[in-house]
Amino acid sequence: MPLLVLGQGRDLDSERGVECPGDLPAPSDPDLVARARAAKAALGDSVFVLGHHYQRDEVIEFADVTGDSFKLAQQAAARPDAPHIVFCGVHFMAESADILTSADQTVILPDLAAGCSMADMAGIAQVEDAWDDLVEMLGDDVAALIRPVTYMNSSAAIKGFTGRHGGTICTSSNAKTALQWAFDETGGLDAGGKVLFLPDQHLGRNTAVRDLGLSLADCVVWDPHKPHGGVTREQLQAARMILWRGHCSVHGRFAVEAVEQARREIPGVKVIVHPECRYEVCELADEIGSTERIIRTIGAAPAGTSWVVGTELNLVNRLRQMFPEQTIAFLEKNVCYCSTMNRIDLPHLVWALESLVDGRVVNPIRVDPDVAHWGRVALDQMLALPGETSKD
Ligand code: 13P
Ligand code: SF4
Repeated sequence: MPLLVLGQGRDLDSERGVECPGDLPAPSDPDLVARARAAKAALGDSVFVLGHHYQRDEVIEFADVTGDSFKLAQQAAARPDAPHIVFCGVHFMAESADILTSADQTVILPDLAAGCSMADMAGIAQVEDAWDDLVEMLGDDVAALIRPVTYMNSSAAIKGFTGRHGGTICTSSNAKTALQWAFDETGGLDAGGKVLFLPDQHLGRNTAVRDLGLSLADCVVWDPHKPHGGVTREQLQAARMILWRGHCSVHGRFAVEAVEQARREIPGVKVIVHPECRYEVCELADEIGSTERIIRTIGAAPAGTSWVVGTELNLVNRLRQMFPEQTIAFLEKNVCYCSTMNRIDLPHLVWALESLVDGRVVNPIRVDPDVAHWGRVALDQMLALPGETSKD
């Protein structure tokens, strides 16, 4: 039966939310769980549900696979037989899945308003302007001198820019390898090459300094709201890492004082944080890792270990359920859920699944073919990085 496709997708250069078309089931409907089960059973192998670790428990329950962004990208690429992929995550993840799947597969985001404030901090026009400025300030050989390394948390348009300029995508689990690759492409770490790191300054700085041994002085921050990024020619010439001025509005709120307080109040506590946290916070942590790595590290620790965790609250709450033999606390009492991850709730999932059962595709994510081509070049480069698995 041909499927009716509803929803216009979203502006390619924006992660901002839009309304979902159609009627959603009421959150108070006592049959939501049964409805989700029935719809999933009716759809069988024709649908594959991916769930990011920051999703609500009520949604994770229906995920065929859960993971960090790297693992979910791999999983999307590895499901060519599923006509429909329902992505329970945020918009940039669904876009990446669309880029990595074939033209006859459809990726569905149950709520189009599930964006990412960090991804919104790098618009394609700003990034193109920045590149023009870099050419003006550093000369025409900028293409040989600089590789863009773009965090997965970015719009498809920025991924396309990255592919066109010979760069790679990275996630929090492979940023070190991606940076090493990029410096090798410009002649090796000691040859004076540079990386333009988009859009998360913290992941870029943490990886460059902590993993590659660069210094804080090797990093400059490019502010797209200032002329020439607010950076002088001399600063740019000396820099090895040009960090886009973006950050995560959730992880950016974890503070040094919270780590110090945890160490004061919980004897022997281990602090584990996501690398989107600020450099000063990561410096004080015992462990740093992607969501997948956080889960693995706590799971592998001896029973009775005390942890404070600096990442999104849905995952921290789930860690408590997964590992009752550990004592697990949230690093910062004043930090809340990622509001956009939380947009995907059971009513939206039920709506997306039941619509499929009725022959309607709601909220398809479709990336422009030219953007998708170059985005795929950059994503394939990431998937080809040496030794990459979802295990880190
Ligand atoms: P992970 O790749 O570690 O799952 O992180 C994704 C993300 O959005 C963190 O804020
Ligand atoms: Fe984006 Fe931060 Fe939410 Fe991750 S936690 S999806 S980076 S806003």
